Amino acid sequence: MIYLKDLVNKICLLVKDCGKVILNADREKMQIDTKSGVADLVTEYDKNIQDKIAVGLKKILPEAKFIGEEGSNDKLSDAGYAFVVDPIDGTTNFIKDYHISAISVALLEGKEVVAGVVYNPYLDEVFYAIKGQGAFCNGKKISVSSQPMSNALVLFGSSPYDKSLFKETLEILSEYFYKALDIRRCGSAALDLCSVACGRAEVYFELQTSPWDFAAGKLLVEEAGGVVTTLDGAPLSFAGKSSILAKNNVI
Ligand code: IPD
Ligand code: CA
Ligand code: CA
Repeated sequence: MIYLKDLVNKICLLVKDCGKVILNADREKMQIDTKSGVADLVTEYDKNIQDKIAVGLKKILPEAKFIGEEGSNDKLSDAGYAFVVDPIDGTTNFIKDYHISAISVALLEGKEVVAGVVYNPYLDEVFYAIKGQGAFCNGKKISVSSQPMSNALVLFGSSPYDKSLFKETLEILSEYFYKALDIRRCGSAALDLCSVACGRAEVYFELQTSPWDFAAGKLLVEEAGGVVTTLDGAPLSFAGKSSILAKNNVI
């Protein structure tokens, strides 16, 4: 029997510890490489944090599989536990010292997220959710806002690793802009989802995201009373890349 609350407490300690690596990084000497294209960057710190988290999670739940953004992954299966990890969500922000990045850890049981933790080291905010037990930020229960579209902040991601999607992104964004209060682009999908979960914003959408970007944040939004689907309204899958639409429950 696994006690998710104990497990989440341990994950919170682990991500807080890894957050120090982000805050203390030596930006002058940082090793930066490209992955799928010129905008898709990875630093030595993304890899270091992923390694540190993999070791830590192995101690917390040895039988769980591990899927992280920076490679050497197990295969997701329909049963059993699996961690889905983004060691730095907002790598470009991190490289630019823009102070909006997070560590995201989700625990899946089969195809369902049962626990999610997102840590923003710059604000020392740890968001966590447990399936059926609510969503929290630094120990306080959070919920989505009840603001209508006319008073909504709409967050979006630019799908930076596939620039062919930007025109469509702008078309959707333009529709929202005229109906909503205003729009924002922060550079971390995980933190966008946390913002919807705690009512700082009402909507977040992006045409292409990966499971490690949204796995933890999805549960946070849902446990905070919101709704998360693909842009077409279908359930999100963890099998591969997907569009995403997260919102409060009145929009
Ligand atoms: C990216 C960020 C960004 C989003 C991209 C993601 P990364 O993650 O979440 O906000 O627009 O789609 O890939 O590469 O910084 O971990
Ligand atoms: Ca990411
Ligand atoms: Ca990342």
